Amino acid sequence: MIKIHLVAADGSETTLETKPAGSLMQAAVGRNVEGIAADCGGSLTCATCHVYVREPFAAQLPPPSPNELGMLEFTAAERRPGSRLSCQIELVAALDGLTVDLPPTQY
Ligand code: FES
Repeated sequence: MIKIHLVAADGSETTLETKPAGSLMQAAVGRNVEGIAADCGGSLTCATCHVYVREPFAAQLPPPSPNELGMLEFTAAERRPGSRLSCQIELVAALDGLTVDLPPTQY
């Protein structure tokens, strides 16, 4: 199991303990974490699963694909250096402790 920390825009934090499998979006939606809408279910067509990945994890993730980069142009909240789409973040053991900030809105 790995721990994932999701920090809402109001500062409240949710910690998930999850298997290192599937995507961050799937783990968050499966636990009803508010702040990740994921309207397209992970097919990379909505940008409502936007998160800001904190260091050192942002630098450890595989770089975004061209399709993810394209969809990052459509996030409702401002894009920052750590911006990623959580449906594209595969949970692996090395991401134990991953901390992401949630944008104030996905719409
Ligand atoms: S869930 Fe739609 S782009 Fe990630």
